[in-house]
Amino acid sequence: MTWLADTRTSYDTVAASYAEFVSGALDKQPHMRAALALFAAEVDGPAVDVGCGPGHFTAHLASLGAEVSGIDLSPAMVDLARQTHPELRFDVGSMTDLALPAESVAGVLAFWSLIHVPDESVPVALGHFRRVLRPGGLLVIGYHVGVGTRLKTQGYGGHPMRVHVHLRQPWWLAKRVRAAGFTIEAEWALNPGNEVSQAILFARASV
Ligand SMILES: C[S@@+](CC[C@H](N)C(=O)[O-])C[C@H]1O[C@@H](n2cnc3c(N)ncnc32)[C@H](O)[C@@H]1O
Repeated sequence: MTWLADTRTSYDTVAASYAEFVSGALDKQPHMRAALALFAAEVDGPAVDVGCGPGHFTAHLASLGAEVSGIDLSPAMVDLARQTHPELRFDVGSMTDLALPAESVAGVLAFWSLIHVPDESVPVALGHFRRVLRPGGLLVIGYHVGVGTRLKTQGYGGHPMRVHVHLRQPWWLAKRVRAAGFTIEAEWALNPGNEVSQAILFARASV
């Protein structure tokens, strides 16, 4: 699949500059910290950060006491995450083919990673999230709210990229999350009112 290869290559290219870009960002993001704190408090068992990038959120969750590992499509991101956080486990993998056993985790965090999965493959990724989660397990998705798809051709210091960013309407994602076997508990709007805003969706794997 071209989009998967393009996304992988793009994030391999920007891994180091992305890590710099997000370094310390959480200090200025109280709502993001609150979402991660809620995740850590609610998840009672192993958790996985899917699309973990350089592992900054994985490490933050671990610092809050979560038993968490990370998975990312980009080998360079995973190398960086392993170097930066040698005490944590990171693996290369795609959410469209998640290599975890059924009902093996109590929490899945997917922060700004499902944004790169095209519409037709979103049910595949959500199906994997549901399969690997225990009944009652928590799924938290961070995403861009908006309409349409943007092709990002450079980023994080001007490096070349070829990555599609799919903006989504809350109703569109909610419908697919429910169809995958989840109950939606809450959705937080971050910087609402902007042309492209952010949202964090909290859903529970149906029992
Ligand atoms: C915008 S970054 C987000 C990183 C981190 N979660 C954050 O919110 O800062 C997107 C990350 O998702 C990863 N990614 C994209 N598609 C993926 C897929 N199909 N499976 C797993 N990871 C993926 C990319 O390699 C990249 O590290």
